[in-house]
Amino acid sequence: MSHDEIRTTFDSWAGNGRAEGMEEGHGDVVQQVIGQMGIRPGMQSLDLGCGHGWATRLLGKAAPGATAIGVDVSPAMIAKAEETHDLTSRARYVLGTFDALDFKDGRFDRVFSMEAIYYAPDLTRALAEVARVTKSGGEAHLLLDRYKESEHTEAWSSDVGLSMAWLSTAEWEEALRCAGFAEVTSARVVDSRGPRDPNDPARVALHAAGTLWLRAAKA
Ligand SMILES: C[S@@+](CC[C@H](N)C(=O)[O-])C[C@H]1O[C@@H](n2cnc3c(N)ncnc32)[C@H](O)[C@@H]1O
Repeated sequence: MSHDEIRTTFDSWAGNGRAEGMEEGHGDVVQQVIGQMGIRPGMQSLDLGCGHGWATRLLGKAAPGATAIGVDVSPAMIAKAEETHDLTSRARYVLGTFDALDFKDGRFDRVFSMEAIYYAPDLTRALAEVARVTKSGGEAHLLLDRYKESEHTEAWSSDVGLSMAWLSTAEWEEALRCAGFAEVTSARVVDSRGPRDPNDPARVALHAAGTLWLRAAKA
């Protein structure tokens, strides 16, 4: 899969309401996780696949003087992030791809990503980049709704029309260790608002499985 295909898909999502839909759908879980990322005053965070930047803004408000940079391959998403930016957030947004991050080694205290890293055309290289830009003693927090243990999510790749890495929790953990993280743990985060449609068994199962939260610490 090429970055052009990814760009075309998400440029269209930026204009058809799906960007806002992701904020609504992911917001509860993301706020739970950001609250537990240990972001302290002055820390610098990176948001990979920031979409229209709503989580980047939360990262940039997570502690006094904290800052955040969002990276996305979609120019329309970056334009929307800039339009919806609010001046109380110490956040900015840049165009870029996961496999060639334009930041120096060890730049960030925290690297965050919600529902994005599995679109990387070269996942090994993307995870190596995540490890490279994470500071020694820093952490990466990757959130994924699509993973092997969550039934009903395998078809998402064909639904979206893009290839997406399809890994189990153990495989994700191993991939992060291979990328250079010293300690990797995982947890599931469940949306506190309940299933989107309590009468739809697939929605109920999706909600119960929760979001996979991969926490990777760099020595
Ligand atoms: C499903 S959206 C999630 C957006 C946001 N994190 C959220 O939760 O609302 C995935 C985002 O990742 C971006 N993306 C996908 N693959 C990418 C890549 N290889 N490099 C940079 N951005 C990428 C897309 O353009 C899109 O905005």
